[in-house]
Amino acid sequence: MALALMTDLLREAERHNKAVGAFNVADMEMIIGAIKAAETANTPIILQIAQARLVYSPFHLIAPMMVSAARAAKIPVAVHLDHGQTLDVIQSALDYGFTSVMIDGSSLPLEQNIAITNETLAAAKKYGAGVEAELGTIGGSEGGAEKKAVTTDPETVKEFLSRAPADALAVAIGNAHGHYRGTPQLDFEVLKTIRALTPAPLVLHGGTGISDEDFRRCIDCGIRKINIATATFDAAADSIRAYCAQHDTPVFFGIHEAAVQGVYENVLRHIAVFNNEEKS
Ligand code: 13P
Repeated sequence: MALALMTDLLREAERHNKAVGAFNVADMEMIIGAIKAAETANTPIILQIAQARLVYSPFHLIAPMMVSAARAAKIPVAVHLDHGQTLDVIQSALDYGFTSVMIDGSSLPLEQNIAITNETLAAAKKYGAGVEAELGTIGGSEGGAEKKAVTTDPETVKEFLSRAPADALAVAIGNAHGHYRGTPQLDFEVLKTIRALTPAPLVLHGGTGISDEDFRRCIDCGIRKINIATATFDAAADSIRAYCAQHDTPVFFGIHEAAVQGVYENVLRHIAVFNNEEKS
């Protein structure tokens, strides 16, 4: 039984100045590839899916698969709902056995974000599950509409967390979901200011396209969970495309293996950086 609590993984990451990789998955091949990479690296990970992606991956199918894969893994794996938008889906995730949920109240006024985060905390508490909240707005799109970025205001972090004590806080510091237009410009001064105000584990969304050096700087500034989605979807697609180019008559199980392998390599690469062992 390796189903882990996100809160335990983040605490361990804090002790060792690392970040836990949180990898978005959409199907069985991605789950298999991600867990295989975590086992190879002997490093815990978080498997997650965003609420907006449930149109492709019906929750009643993908959720039991994620939880079951985590239970069977040889290393601790937490299972997390990414960008939860509604309390009914959050409740379903908890019922399926997810060990943490994100409530994305980032587009709401502060008071409403605090209120919905507290409702999520109350629901999660009954299951011993963790809660990630978001303050400021991360730009780009995680399967839904494009959002306009609003940098997290350090002034409100303390108030937010004192009134809605989430287990992890997603920050907006120039990071964005999807492919960046140009080189990402992360605001490390804002990150450091937030870090000085709270010991809460901080979460970096929009991991695709961020350099290894910037990942390490983020970890050194208190980022403890890093989300990777687009890079994994791209890795699976690229690997399938390469397999098909090499075979005149591609077969389904060849495509399956290519997808698993693409995800495996991508997750393994990110875990090596997030373990923050080699200083450049
Ligand atoms: P990317 O798609 O940019 O990797 O972002 C992932 C993410 O933050 C999921 O919430």
